[in-house]
Order: sequence, then C-alpha cells, then structure tokens
Amino acid sequence: MVPQPTAGPFFFGYLPPFLQFNYYMEEKIKELLEEIREFRADSKEHLEQFRIRFLGKKGVLADLFARMKDIEPAMRKDYGMWVNELKVKTEEKLTHFRESFESTDESGFEGDLTLPGEYMPLGSLHPITLVRNRIVDIFAKIGFNVSEGPEIEDDWHNFSALNFPEEHPARDMQDTFFISLDPAISLRTHTSSVQVRVMENTKPPIRTISPGRVFRNEAISARAHCFFHQVEGLYIDENVSFADLKQALLYFAREMFSADTKIRLRPSFFPFTEPSAEMDISCNFCGGKGCNICKYTGWVEILGCGMVDPAVLENCRIDAGRYSGFAFGMGIERIAMLKYDIRDLRMFSENDLRFLRQFSGI
Ligand code: PHE
Repeated sequence: MVPQPTAGPFFFGYLPPFLQFNYYMEEKIKELLEEIREFRADSKEHLEQFRIRFLGKKGVLADLFARMKDIEPAMRKDYGMWVNELKVKTEEKLTHFRESFESTDESGFEGDLTLPGEYMPLGSLHPITLVRNRIVDIFAKIGFNVSEGPEIEDDWHNFSALNFPEEHPARDMQDTFFISLDPAISLRTHTSSVQVRVMENTKPPIRTISPGRVFRNEAISARAHCFFHQVEGLYIDENVSFADLKQALLYFAREMFSADTKIRLRPSFFPFTEPSAEMDISCNFCGGKGCNICKYTGWVEILGCGMVDPAVLENCRIDAGRYSGFAFGMGIERIAMLKYDIRDLRMFSENDLRFLRQFSGI
C-alpha cells in the first residue's frame, strides 16, 4: 500500500526516498494535470484561489520544484518535465480566464448582448396616487397650486388657528394621535393645517390645494382607517362668494365623475367655516335611481366645505374686512372608492397585487 498524504498540497514528503518519482508520483501529477484541465473559474476570486493553490509561494508547484534536489539525478530530467508541464497548463488556464473576465463586466456577465431584452412587466400607480393626481390636475386648470406641510403638527396649525374651541371633542384623545407627552404636538387630523401655514405666509389672492396623509384614532373597518389621504382646497380674494364655491365644486364633480353629475349642498358645521355645508353628488352607479352604494337615496356624500370663518382669517393675519374665501376638504380614498367601485377601505393599504394590478394602464 502506498502511503497517503494527510495534509497540505505536497505529497512527496510522505514517501520514502526509494519511492520518489515512481509510478505513484506519476499518477499524482496526472491527477493534478486533470484538476487543472477541468478547472473553470466562476469569479475573479475563484481564479485567484486557483492561482494561489498552484503558483503561490507555498503552492503545489513551489513545493514540487523545491523537491528537485531530493530526486535521484537520473530521474531529474523526467521529473522536471512533468512539473514544467503542470506549470505551463496552470498559466494557460490563468491567462484564459483572465482574458474572459476582462472582456466581461464586473458582475462576470458573459451573455450575448445582441439578444432581445427580457420582458419587464410595467408597474402601476397606486389608486390613491392616480386619484390625487387627477384632483390636482382638475384644480390646476382653474388656477390652484399645490401646497404641502408636515404630518406632525402643533396645536396651533391643526386646531387653534382654525377656531377649534379648547374643549372641542376633535382634540380629544379619541380622535387625535398625540405623539409625545406634550399635548400641543399631534399627527395632523386634516390638511387644513397646511392652509393655515399658507395663509400665514402668503398675501391674497390665494388659490391652493393641499393633498396629504392625515391620521385619526379610529377603529379600522371597511369604512374607516387610522390614516387616510385628503385634498383640501382654499380660495381667498376680495369678493369671494358662496356662489364661487358652488361653481368650483360643480366643475370639480363633473370633471372627476361625469359631465352629467349633479351636486347637492346640505347645511353642516365646521369650526373654521361659516356657513358650512356637506356636498353630495348624484350616485354615479345608478344615475340617481337608487342602489346599495347610495343606500337608495340617489346621492353620495363626497366632501365638506364652507366660507372661511373671518376669525380664521384674522388668526392668520389676513384682513377679514377686505378678504373672504371658501374652503373644502375631501378624502381621496372616498373619491377613489366611488370612482372605481372599491367596497373596502382596507384594500388601499394591504399591498395586494391582485388589487393593485387592476390599476395598470389607467
Ligand atoms: N377639514 C375638514 C375635515 O377634515 C374638511 C373641510 C375642509 C371642511 C374645509 C370644510 C372646509 O373633515
């Protein structure tokens, strides 16, 4: 039995001198040649490992050459030829793979660049984004710009400047997420806070819409969520009347839904508008005849609106004797649900691709 090496690249050290360069060694060198022949580098690192194994300072070839002096003089020529063959084959391999890595990119790409590209399916905009963009476009046509503000608000911008009395239930822990021990800081409950910021910093005329995410402490259901999206609008100038509000909203409803959409205003209450109203549109599913969407009334509510309360204008350093204005606010989810017949508010935030894919190409 020929003794087997137990470690290291070198195997001659384990053989008694009389066995050196015998049949066993020849076989071993053939095995090494075979290993080199079969070697395929799949990365630069892999090729470097191969180089170190054969050509490194303590590599296979260094070891074999160092043993030359121990070889029987008569055998040295043959031994030298075998080892040299190993060296040449190793270098050939290295050159081959170095060249192939140089001609490809860093990632080792070896594909055919002339082949047709792989099909990449197109994504789609989220329905909230689609509807938001549509609302922005509709109001842009009648001169409204877009304003944005922080989602974390102070009491002044979210409530006090908007005429909310101290004890108003909307400030209550039930509806508002207070984000620290400081009750003056909360997540905004509407984007009216952005309008306050605009009024504080801009001289009328003001025509702006404020889209954004808002937060309310509500139990999550098909009809309510703890966050949703709004677009609020504000128009302030001299002689702005309720008729202007009505006409702007009729225009919006017809652009958003259909040219024959009707609107209806019902008296309502908001601390920051006087008078205030809730606006319904004729049900675009049944055309006003009555269905389960409009609960057989023919009308669906879409937004709140009103004339900006003079106290709010004064809070924002706008002369209420000279200027008047209207404001309105709507939930983007609600408009999207009515436009695309979506029955559950939770769909918007579940990231279900079966739902989202239905909006591609819109
Ligand atoms: N801010 C109100 C809300 O969030 C909506 C609204 C805006 C109502 C402007 C009237 C005028 O419900």
